[in-house]
Amino acid sequence: MKNKLNSKRKVFIRTFGCQMNARDSEFVIGVLSERGFKKVDSAEKADVVLFNSCSVRKHAEDRLFSNIADLKKLKAGKPGLLVGLMGCTAQSYKDKALERAPVLDFVCGPGNEADLPEIIANVLKDRCPVVATDKTNEKRPELFPEYRQSAFKTFVSIGEGCNNFCSYCIVPYVRGRERSRDAKDIVREIRGLAGRGFREITLLGQNVNSYKGANGKGQGASFVKLLEGINSIDGIERVRFMTSHPKDASTDLFKAMRDLEKVCEHLHLPVQSGSDRILKLMNRGYTSKKYIRLVQKYKEILPKGALTTDIIVGFPGESDRDFNSTLKLIKDTGFDSAFSFKYSPRPPARSAKLKDNVPADVKQKRLEAVIDMQCDISQRCNAALKGKTLEILVDGCGSKDPRLLTGRTRTNKITVFNGSRGLIGKFVNVIVESVTPYALKGRMV
Ligand code: 5AD
Ligand code: SF4
Repeated sequence: MKNKLNSKRKVFIRTFGCQMNARDSEFVIGVLSERGFKKVDSAEKADVVLFNSCSVRKHAEDRLFSNIADLKKLKAGKPGLLVGLMGCTAQSYKDKALERAPVLDFVCGPGNEADLPEIIANVLKDRCPVVATDKTNEKRPELFPEYRQSAFKTFVSIGEGCNNFCSYCIVPYVRGRERSRDAKDIVREIRGLAGRGFREITLLGQNVNSYKGANGKGQGASFVKLLEGINSIDGIERVRFMTSHPKDASTDLFKAMRDLEKVCEHLHLPVQSGSDRILKLMNRGYTSKKYIRLVQKYKEILPKGALTTDIIVGFPGESDRDFNSTLKLIKDTGFDSAFSFKYSPRPPARSAKLKDNVPADVKQKRLEAVIDMQCDISQRCNAALKGKTLEILVDGCGSKDPRLLTGRTRTNKITVFNGSRGLIGKFVNVIVESVTPYALKGRMV
């Protein structure tokens, strides 16, 4: 029997990290809403504050713990307030999170998130901290609480976990081994979303290209087959996906992106480094040459497709020569944009055993060099769109000037233009008049 909770407890959730975490937060709000909780927009208004954490990089984790510690004062003035940690950091710290952040009342790993109502009830009943990090979430994706942050675009998880064990990465340790959802369940979820008015779906997985869900006939369905199934769902107009791994992405995928009209022309293909020596140490499973060949194929098949990437600078032992190979790869490839990060050791990920020997100031300089170079390239890529008319899904209005609307192109470029708020959630055509490295600006036509 489920524990009964006092109805209308108010919950506030702070989300750190990737889209996977954003989707988990929606799931948790959905689960709690079904059990009488109400979502509020600040910690001050809440009875329960949840931190949905990311532990991929140390910087994010440090920021998280400093944010949790900031609640000490609020809690002192509001003794009934419960503070909980969920997500990847909860899984990696387990009970140690209570030591690092004594303000916490409970710690809940990604696999235990469906049990949050019970966990909260137990903390209230027993008045002592609860640590729940013992489950994988096999069944969780098939529970569909209704809550979604947006009414017209949303995320759908196609699987969880990762088997790649890139040497710097903590994900396989906190999210477990790769599990693909059944294709029929994914299609059913998206049909339901289309029926509720959703127009854009982003499929989420740590490595979407290694997706192997059952196709309803007891056989594994490939990612391309899954895209074909989703492409035929009425009402859905755009399908995005992330993240692709260069060792598994193939020309079949690029052809599907070209031929399936709903699948958007944007590929996020993290390269991480341009040095073969470092790629090997990272256990990425490809060389820079193989990556460049893959990109050439992508550009041949989708000449107007956008390409984005992730870069890590300052991996253990990264020499000036290694770093220059990364700069060269960035220059030669011409990414539309890149997320760049300074390396941080994430035990138990394997590279944490290597000496983190690139000095902090060198990491900083390398990061700035990547950002500067990418800024020029992004400006040039965007400038090539001047005068073009592009389809935009309007997703919000400017925070400073409400007459300004923002939206995204199919290639995922942020676009800003004048228009009325009534257009949010609609598709419009915009002619690009000026650009920055980060956005296009234009007017509706
Ligand atoms: N240090 C720095 N960046 C990292 N990433 C993952 N692990 C680390 C780490 N230990 C970056 C990678 C990945 C992105 C999500 O985060 O670039 O693609
Ligand atoms: Fe981490 Fe590599 Fe898996 Fe991505 S593919 S989640 S970087 S282990």
